[in-house]
Amino acid sequence: MPVGTYKKGHRHTAGTNVFCVSGQGYSLFWYEDDEDFTRVDWHHGVMYTPPENMFHQHFNTATQPSRYLAVQFGSTRYPLFEVKRQIWDKGVDTSLKDGGNQLEYEDQPPEIHKIFLRELDKNQVESEMGDIFDEDAIRAEM
Ligand SMILES: [Fe+2]
Repeated sequence: MPVGTYKKGHRHTAGTNVFCVSGQGYSLFWYEDDEDFTRVDWHHGVMYTPPENMFHQHFNTATQPSRYLAVQFGSTRYPLFEVKRQIWDKGVDTSLKDGGNQLEYEDQPPEIHKIFLRELDKNQVESEMGDIFDEDAIRAEM
């Protein structure tokens, strides 16, 4: 993940182990219609596994790019489970609005970008998301 950015939120089946290789940041987890976020701070060596169908989103707050590996049982070639075949047939980056499981930036809970900006401020990192969000307006609400 480039400096000052974060991934779109998404959800999928359980069993993906996310391992931080380099950098630092945090991930948020929540279920649909419940924006009581669970947060995991990560750096090299931290591993976590998003639960079944729980939305999750990864945020880079480092002054350098962050890298992670997402390791799971099954692959696009050998999905092993029908549910994984369905996910990969549709693509993991298909929007919720199109029947997929990715939450577009414009549809994410508003608090998410505020949390991100606060974390970047703590680390003195500039956001690179200003082309997507009206950050002056968001900061005015913080
Ligand atoms: Fe994921």
